[in-house]
Amino acid sequence: MLKGKNLIEPLDFTTEELEKLFVLSNKIMDKPLDFSECCKGDILATLFYEPSTRTRFSFETAMLRLGGQVIGFSGENASSAAKGESIADTLKAIGCYADIAVIRHPKEGSALVASKNAGIPVINGGDGGHQHPTQTLTDLLTIKREKGRLANLRVGFCGDLLFGRTVHSLIRALSRYEGIEFILISPEELKVPEFVRNDILRGKDCKYCEVTDMLDVLPQLDILYMTRVQRERFFNEEDYIRLKDSYILDEEKMLLAPKDMIVMHPLPRVNEISVEVDTDPRAKYFVQVKNGMYVRMALIMSLLGKK
Ligand code: NCD
Repeated sequence: MLKGKNLIEPLDFTTEELEKLFVLSNKIMDKPLDFSECCKGDILATLFYEPSTRTRFSFETAMLRLGGQVIGFSGENASSAAKGESIADTLKAIGCYADIAVIRHPKEGSALVASKNAGIPVINGGDGGHQHPTQTLTDLLTIKREKGRLANLRVGFCGDLLFGRTVHSLIRALSRYEGIEFILISPEELKVPEFVRNDILRGKDCKYCEVTDMLDVLPQLDILYMTRVQRERFFNEEDYIRLKDSYILDEEKMLLAPKDMIVMHPLPRVNEISVEVDTDPRAKYFVQVKNGMYVRMALIMSLLGKK
């Protein structure tokens, strides 16, 4: 039972709980109108201290499609944080108004602090370069639907593996399934952080390798998970400019990829996937966007204990 729980990091739910969530997501996807009054009378608060398009809108549309309502702000200056209020105090107040909350904040650990103070279920919509568990739900559901399984997959992660929180969360989540092999493709400077390498990859004895050349490994992949270089987390602009176009997936490179490989990306995309790839049937990043809304509907329902 997920009722009353928080979702702060991907391992907060068991694989069985995730499975139930995916079954519910698929049911909603099949017959969305059957769920249009499930959260009538409930309010979701969206607290976005960092920019967002998909995460915020997909949460908001998810709640609206369930018949609930939404309050919230976007941008640090739009809340009392601008006056110096702590996250703990803001969440104590939000807990008086809303039934469930989602928070995105530039500081690692902020969602955990929020969850300890709100008194209502809190969902982490991304905490700095740390974790992004609802993108992970979206990614897992997409993998399950597109590849038919969550085990025995060779998954290539490419781009900014240092700061990309969607990468950290998805690696953590996939590490629980059998036969997953991680191929980590990045420039030297953007390799996965120590907490991912030590706690997850080595700690859980995962099969993994770290490479700099994408073309060498492309023919062997089941999934290619592309990411943007996270400009806002760099200490200086020069490094960003030097590294931002390290990998660009285009039609020509796609010729080397297996026919049944899928390309994923949490979006937003900058240059790392040429638009010409969008019409390749293996491109699934806009399918992810759609899946993301349905899995968030299932998540809100489950945390609020709705049937
Ligand atoms: C990601 C994020 O915010 O971490 N976006 C998203 O939520 N889909 C990825 C990114 O910003 O690069």
